Amino acid sequence: MRLFALLIPLILAAFPAAAFDLQAHRGGRALWPENTLPAFERALDLGVDTLELDTGVTKDGVLIIAHDRHIDANLTRRDGKWVEGPQPTWRSLTLAEVRTLDVGRIRPDTPYAQRFARQMAMDGTSVPTLAALFDLVKKRGDSKVRFNIETKIDPTNPSDSVDPETFANLLVKQVRDAGLADRVTIQSFDWRTLQVVRRIAPEIATAYLTIIDPEESNLSMTGESLWTAGFDPVRHGGSLPAAIKAAGGTVWSPYHLNLTPEVVKEAQALGLKVIPWTVNDAADMKRLIGWGVDGLITDDPVTGRQVLGR
Ligand code: G3P
Ligand code: CA
Repeated sequence: MRLFALLIPLILAAFPAAAFDLQAHRGGRALWPENTLPAFERALDLGVDTLELDTGVTKDGVLIIAHDRHIDANLTRRDGKWVEGPQPTWRSLTLAEVRTLDVGRIRPDTPYAQRFARQMAMDGTSVPTLAALFDLVKKRGDSKVRFNIETKIDPTNPSDSVDPETFANLLVKQVRDAGLADRVTIQSFDWRTLQVVRRIAPEIATAYLTIIDPEESNLSMTGESLWTAGFDPVRHGGSLPAAIKAAGGTVWSPYHLNLTPEVVKEAQALGLKVIPWTVNDAADMKRLIGWGVDGLITDDPVTGRQVLGR
């Protein structure tokens, strides 16, 4: 395995056609405040291939970049004070209200702060709009970086966000208006939004997110799920890659601990790219690269670059 790790840069250099896609998850959450412009800027400075980000829609119909469907109390201060208790959804707030929030550091003394203890604090950082990120990338003259944009929508909590049709239409319009359709992948655990994208914008790549876990699966291997828009593996010979292929997917992004080398091969044989999330440990990265994955979504793109020998 050690010899293989040393050979990773040579192997990847020998197959440039299969360019490896290193993605900065939430802009590089292990290093910088998640889903913020300063994080995306540093990830660009570092030289990642793709910025991974999450989106929601405000009351006044603006796409913003944030992970949860509501204000995250782990990250958020208003007027210098940490927000407390149950928090409102983005859908119930105007952009002007969202702009009053500071998400430039993790609240100390939380398990989340312990988990990302190396994250640099950047006080005074606000929740960005998707338009501001596109502007930032254009101002830098960056004509290469890709965007992996997730729609944060939950079919089991439909009132938390706009409906799939509205969400996908807003996102597609913004991507097209920015002239970035060929550099964007739209990803979701809620495959309903991906079906809308497939119908209205077939030129935009779609990534099907999956997790199989006793506590939070978005699909069932033996039954039906609200998340999968009717493309349940049981209808496709029990094969998850076959279900995603039938749904029109370009990319399969599974929770990395759900992968096996056999299922990576099965998906790639169907023409899917396999780009697992969220892989932060160098040993896990090396193992997955050894299995032939097409990219990695990581909170720690510095370690990702080191593993890739960049
Ligand atoms: O890109 C997939 C990954 O971001 C999914 O996990 O919860 O961090 O959005 P989450
Ligand atoms: Ca995400």
